[in-house]
Amino acid sequence: MSLYRITGGNRLTGNIKVEGAKNAVLPILAATILNEGISVIENVPALNDVVTMLEILKKLGCRVEYRDKTVVVDSSSITSNEIPTVLVKRMRSSIVLLGSLLGRTGKVITSYPGGCAIGVRPIDLHLKGLRQLGANVEMHGQIICEGKDLKGTEIQLDYPSVGATENIMLAAVHAKGETVIRNAAKEPEIVDLQGFLNAMGARVFGAGNHMIRIEGVKELHDCRHTVMTDRIAAGTYMAAAAVTGGEISLENILVDHLHPITDKLRESGCIIKTNCSNMRITAPKRLKAIDLIRTLPYPGFPTDAQPQMMAAMCTAAGTSIFVETIFENRYRHIDELIKLGADIKVDGRIAVVRGVPRLSGALVTAKDLRGGAALVLAGLVAEGVTEVEGVEHIDRGYEDLGEKLKSLGADIIMV
Ligand code: UD1
Repeated sequence: MSLYRITGGNRLTGNIKVEGAKNAVLPILAATILNEGISVIENVPALNDVVTMLEILKKLGCRVEYRDKTVVVDSSSITSNEIPTVLVKRMRSSIVLLGSLLGRTGKVITSYPGGCAIGVRPIDLHLKGLRQLGANVEMHGQIICEGKDLKGTEIQLDYPSVGATENIMLAAVHAKGETVIRNAAKEPEIVDLQGFLNAMGARVFGAGNHMIRIEGVKELHDCRHTVMTDRIAAGTYMAAAAVTGGEISLENILVDHLHPITDKLRESGCIIKTNCSNMRITAPKRLKAIDLIRTLPYPGFPTDAQPQMMAAMCTAAGTSIFVETIFENRYRHIDELIKLGADIKVDGRIAVVRGVPRLSGALVTAKDLRGGAALVLAGLVAEGVTEVEGVEHIDRGYEDLGEKLKSLGADIIMV
C-alpha cells in the first residue's frame, strides 16, 4: 500500500499546467457509446477513474486506445449492455452510463453504485428522469432499465443534480422529439458534455443555464473534442500555494470557472492576477481566516474544493466557518486534520475552524478523494513529517499530484 511522505515547511513557487477535468471526461467517455463510430478525445487526464471507465467501455464492446492524453473510442459495435458490478463498485460515476447505454441499446443492466464515503448519494432523480423519457426501471438487486422508444418530454428536477442532468441529456440524444430539463445543473462540465455531444451531431442547447433543451436525432457521426481544464485541480494547487505562503502560476485554466475559489482566496489575503488562461497567485506569509464558506451548486462555492480550503484555513489568523450543504458526510478529513493539530469543531453541516499558528506532522488517512488532497496540503505546512495513507483515493482524481507539488518545491515522495 502506498502513502505520501511529506516534510512540511517549503514555500511553493513555479508554474504548472493543469490537467483535463475528471468530472468532464467521465461523462464524455460514457457519451461515446451513443456514437456508432469513432470519437477522438484530447486532453484526457491519466487518472484511475479514467482507466476504470475505459475498462467498462471495452467490456461493452468498444475498441479503445489511450496514448499521449488522447483517447480514441470506436463504438461501432456494442456487444453487451451489462456493466460489470466490480467496475460499478470501483467508480460511482459509472452511473452516467445508464443514459448513454439506454439511448444506444434500449436496455441496461447494472448494479446500484451504493453509498460512497461522502454521503448516501441516491440516484432517484436519475431514474425518475429516465422513466419520464419512457424507460421502464426495475430494481431487484440489480438495476434493469429498458426502453427502446424513448420520447422527449419536460423534466423538472427537484434538485440540480449534476449526474441526473447528464444522464437525462445522454438518454435524450436519440429520444423522439424534444426534451426539456428544468432546474438543470449548471456546472461547466455539463457545458463541456454539451460541446462533445454537439460535435457528434447531437442537438443540445442551453447547458450552463437552468434549462437545457435536447432535440432528438437519429444518427451521430465521428468527432473530435478537447476536454476542459480541471477547475477543482486548479483550485487545489491555488490552495497549496496559499497555505505555504507561495507564489505560483497556473497555465491552461479557465479563469471564469474559478471565481468562487479566487474570491475566497483574495478574502484570505492572496493576490491573484489573471489573464485569459493563466493565473498567478501570491500568498501572504500567513492567511487571514475566511468568514464563511458555504458549498452550493455552481456557480456557488464547489463542495469538491471545501476540504482543500479547510486545510488552508487551519493555520490562518482567525476563525473560519464552513457550511457543507451538498453532501452530508463530507467532513471525514476533519478528524485527520485534528491529528495534525488543527482546531476544528463540527456540528452537523457546520464546521468552525480556529486558525492555529502551526500544524505538526503525523500519520493520517485519506478517506475520500478531495479529503485526501486536503491532508496533503496540510502536510505541506505541518512541521516535520506527515504521512498520508489511502493514496488510492487521491489517484482516482489527480494526475500526479505528488509530482506536480514536487515540481513547485514541495518535499513529497510516494512511498
Ligand atoms: C458530481 C461530481 C462530484 C461533485 C458533485 C456536486 C462527477 C463525476 N461528480 O457528483 O465530484 O461533488 O457533482 O458538485 O461529476 N441527489 C439526490 N438524488 C439524485 C442525485 C443526487 O438526492 O438522484 C443529491 C445528492 O445526494 C447530493 C446532491 O443531490 O446531495 C448533489 O449531487 P449531484 O449533483 O448529483 O452530484 P454527483 O453527480 O453525484
